[in-house]
Amino acid sequence: MNKAIMVPGEGPPGAKVAFVGEAPGAEEERLRRPFIGSSGTLLTRLMTTAGLLRSNCYITNVVKERPLNNDIGLFVNLASNNVSNAPRYTEYQEYVRILEQELKEVAPNVVVAVGATPLWALCALKGVTKWRGSILESTLVPGLKVIPTIHPAAALRQWVFSHMILHDLRRVVEESRSPAIERPERQYIIRPTFLEATNFLNVLLQQDADTPIACDIEVINDEVSCISFAVTPSVGISIPFFRGPGPYWAIEEEKAIWRLIAEVLETKHMAGQNLAFDSTFLYTKFGIRMNVCEDTMVGQAIALPDFPKGLDFITSIYFFDPSGHRLEL
Ligand code: URA
Repeated sequence: MNKAIMVPGEGPPGAKVAFVGEAPGAEEERLRRPFIGSSGTLLTRLMTTAGLLRSNCYITNVVKERPLNNDIGLFVNLASNNVSNAPRYTEYQEYVRILEQELKEVAPNVVVAVGATPLWALCALKGVTKWRGSILESTLVPGLKVIPTIHPAAALRQWVFSHMILHDLRRVVEESRSPAIERPERQYIIRPTFLEATNFLNVLLQQDADTPIACDIEVINDEVSCISFAVTPSVGISIPFFRGPGPYWAIEEEKAIWRLIAEVLETKHMAGQNLAFDSTFLYTKFGIRMNVCEDTMVGQAIALPDFPKGLDFITSIYFFDPSGHRLEL
C-alpha cells in the first residue's frame, strides 16, 4: 500500500479563529494544503464576506490524509450508532489526538467545526444542520469554544446552505473577540409550586392586551403534558400536568390552573411556533379559543419561503443579528 500523503494544518501562531474540516480532498492532497479545492474556495469567499481574513486563521482537518474515494466512513462511521465499527477507526483516534494537540497549541478563541465529522470529533455531537450556529464547549479540549457550521461541499450542491454558513461565520467573528463561552441569563420556572404557577399566570393577566405572550404546549398520548409561557426571552414558566405516569397537581389545583390558563389564552395576544396545532388541540380538547396573533413558523414561511421554518433554524438566525446584518438573499 502507498504511504498516505499528509496534509498538515496551516495558519499563523496566535490565530484567534481555527477552522477544522473533515479530511483533505484531491486538490488539497496535491498541494498539501487544507481547504484549497472547490469547497475551500467557497469557504474562503464566505470568510472574507463575513470579515475574516483566511491568512489570519488556523485551518486544519480532523483526518490529515485523503480517504480512499473521499469516504470518511472508512475512519469513523457517523451513520451508525457504533461509530467505532469503521475499518480505520484506530487511525481516526490517533488523528483526533493530533487535533487535540494542535488546538491546545494554537489556543484560538473559537473553533469552527466545518461539517459533521469535526462536530463529532470536537463535541461528540451528531446532526450538524441541527447544531449549526450554536455556541458549544468542546469535549475534546474542555473550555474551548466551538461553533459548528455546514460543510461548504453541501452548499455547492444546495446553495441555500451558503447563507447559513455566512450567518454562522458572522457569529464566529463576534465570538472571536474572547475565548469566554457566555450564555444568556435565563430564569425558567420548570417545576412550579401551585403559588408560583398561579402568580405567574396572574401576572400574565395583568399584561396589556396588545403585548404578545409566547406560548407552547407539549402533547403526549393525546394529553397536554405541559404548557409554557414567556413575555420576555429571559423569564418563562413551564407548567407540567404529569409527574411520571401520575398527575402533577391535586384535582382542585389543576382546575384552578386551567381556568387561569384559559383566561390568558382567550384574552391576551398569543404568539408562538405553529400555533395552528396548539390552538386546534386546545379547542378540540377543552373548548378554549386561543387568541393567536403571531406565528413564527407562518412568518418565516412568508418571509423566507426557501428556508427551513423549524424553531431550531429560526432561533439560530434571528437571535443573532450583529450590527443589523440581515440574512442576505
Ligand atoms: N473538505 C474538507 O473537509 N477539508 C478540506 O481540507 C477540503 C475539503
